[in-house]
Amino acid sequence: MSLTIESLNHQITDGHGKRQLLSDLSLTVGQGECIGLMGDSGSGKTTLLNLIAGLEPIQQGQIILAGVALAQASEQQLSDLRKTQLGIIFQQYNLLSSLSVQDNIAFSARLADRYDASLCTALARQLDIQALLNQYPLTLSGGEMQRVAIARAMSAQPQLLLADEPTGNLDDNNSSCVVELLVKLAKSHNTALVLVTHSHNVAAKMDKIYQLADGQLTLVNK
Ligand SMILES: Nc1ncnc2c1ncn2[C@@H]1O[C@H](COP(=O)(O)OP(=O)(O)OP(=O)(O)O)[C@@H](O)[C@H]1O
Ligand SMILES: [Mg+2]
Repeated sequence: MSLTIESLNHQITDGHGKRQLLSDLSLTVGQGECIGLMGDSGSGKTTLLNLIAGLEPIQQGQIILAGVALAQASEQQLSDLRKTQLGIIFQQYNLLSSLSVQDNIAFSARLADRYDASLCTALARQLDIQALLNQYPLTLSGGEMQRVAIARAMSAQPQLLLADEPTGNLDDNNSSCVVELLVKLAKSHNTALVLVTHSHNVAAKMDKIYQLADGQLTLVNK
């Protein structure tokens, strides 16, 4: 199992006082399984991803990622886990503008001390960005940047990819293309994927779709 969430509760304090954002939420994601996460704006999708990434403290419940219980993990363990077991893909790509495409892809692998030149080459080929390797991010289109971001997230061979609205800035054609490549790649490397999206078309490409509402996840029929 790549990810297990058990009875997670999370409260936030906003302008209206305390609010239960996640309520007794449980989820398991198997190796190579691709999950779509939908839900209204403000329902807590990004917060859930941040909790899985160990970027927000767990208040109550447990998250087990690659065999590590996050609620008990030290900052050092969480940081190591993020480097070696997690790939994160954002709506805004977050590429390093001073590094070439090639060095962006290698970046997370080097950080995890797992740089493998042949894997980086294979990822570039699978994502059809070989011709761009010596270019810099600012010279790329949105769809190209997101494919580079996917290669970067995969280069450290993580167990789990988290993607927060990765196609939010792309047109329909590019969205389909990027998501299909992402799923194909996740499957071929046995990497699990939790992908947040507002698009039913994008979610439909996942193995399962969950809706987050009132702090709980419900399986949605495709
Ligand atoms: N650190 C925080 N302190 C207080 N409130 C927060 C904090 N983080 C998030 N929130 C609130 O929690 C709610 C959920 O936010 P979150 O970003 O998880 O929603 P989301 O489902 O990702 O929404 P969107 O689809 O718009 O991205 C929002 O009402 C937000 O204002
Ligand atoms: Mg969000």
